[in-house]
Amino acid sequence: MNSHHGQRTYFRSFLLHFRPRSVPERTLKLSLTWGLGGTAVVLVFLLFGTGLMLKFVYEPLPDRAYDSILYLKNHVPFGQLVRNIHRWSANGLVFVVFLHFLRVFYTGAFVAPRQTNWIIGLLLFAAVIFSNFTGYLLPWDQIAYWAITISTSMLDYLPGVGSELKAWVLGGDEPGPRTLMNFYAIHSAILPALLLIALPFHFWRIRKAKGLVIPRAPTEDPAIKGELVDSMPHLIIREVAMAVLVIAVVLLIAMLFDAPLAEQANSGMSPNPTKAPWYFMGIQELLMHFHPIFAVLVIPLTLLMGLISIPYIKYQDETTGVWFISHKGRKMALLAVIVATLVTVCAVVFDEFASGTELPGPPDMVSSGLLPFAIIISLCAGFYLLVKKLFNASNNEAVQALFTLLITAFVVLTVIGIWFRGTGMQLMWAA
Ligand code: HEM
Repeated sequence: MNSHHGQRTYFRSFLLHFRPRSVPERTLKLSLTWGLGGTAVVLVFLLFGTGLMLKFVYEPLPDRAYDSILYLKNHVPFGQLVRNIHRWSANGLVFVVFLHFLRVFYTGAFVAPRQTNWIIGLLLFAAVIFSNFTGYLLPWDQIAYWAITISTSMLDYLPGVGSELKAWVLGGDEPGPRTLMNFYAIHSAILPALLLIALPFHFWRIRKAKGLVIPRAPTEDPAIKGELVDSMPHLIIREVAMAVLVIAVVLLIAMLFDAPLAEQANSGMSPNPTKAPWYFMGIQELLMHFHPIFAVLVIPLTLLMGLISIPYIKYQDETTGVWFISHKGRKMALLAVIVATLVTVCAVVFDEFASGTELPGPPDMVSSGLLPFAIIISLCAGFYLLVKKLFNASNNEAVQALFTLLITAFVVLTVIGIWFRGTGMQLMWAA
């Protein structure tokens, strides 16, 4: 054996400690995963790498932070590029993880034995959002300062514990030196540590489930697993190709677009409109229509409980690996998208124009809290029962339609909040 060959065997056996020796051939199809989980992993690597570099320059003190970013931009070779890669990977990660979550849901990859991984996934999702959120403050510019001010002010509405929780998170009444220290510690130590622990756990659970779900047509027998192929080269080569592509795209975006940096934070002058980071705009939009307790607590908590319980519902059919369950399931999901988009847009527009003509009536908690919440719950239940009956569908298909309805509504609210709210958070036609 020549030494070149020896090195290769060595490398291969090293690699196979991380990757399975063989995988079902059918799980290699791009149309199963769309490479989304792998893309998320690559972005996490990019974030760790660039984050460690940024640590050498960034100073987490209100009177130093902004200048340290300017210094990075103006005096550190490739400093701006490193910041751009970090920023765009972070935003990309939220988006990609959301898509990965959708693919896992719509291929039924959450039922046993994968239910724990669904829960770990939700935890990872939260870690990604809060990493992004805590990082948002660090440049200490106007955008950062006021986005954190408005997002943390949502905590005020939590009954009982709200203002204390907010004071604890901020380390004071408004963002200040303590906030920056807290956010920096959480952003650069706590959450990365959490990710480093949770991610291997996520991958280990995939191995325990003997790999990914096997993609199949609705009529195919789930017991047929197909052939196994060696990971090297079949899986590894795809993973490497995907990684190279992701890195190339991120690099290109980072070269073309600079991460935003507004003027230095000024606690005396808020921009108009003041918006939360984009992934919280759905909640900020809810706040414009519902009593705050419902917008920041009851509705998000209900949705979260729904997400956690998804794997534990008793389903009629075994549908793992089938996109959208069936032809019927696909049609029902499409209907849900259309209904949710129309209803959400109409409700937002109606609320905007009806709100000026407030009549004396029941207290706010009822009129903009309990009552609309009860209406929404009834509409959802009604939708579930109606589509189930109308399509003569299984509960798998009806649950999928309801999930689609709610996710679409949330996406529509987010889009409205990001693009269709202008000065004074008035509804406007996007410029
Ligand atoms: C930082 C965030 C995340 C990373 C890096 C990540 C990574 C991965 C990777 C690499 C895979 C295998 C390839 C693929 O499915 O694309 C995977 C599978 C999986 N992920 Fe994630 N994931 C994350 C978040 C989530 C979330 C939010 C959920 C759902 C709530 C989730 C649930 C799952 C499940 C159930 C599987 C197994 C799918 C199957 O067996 O077909 N993950 N993840």
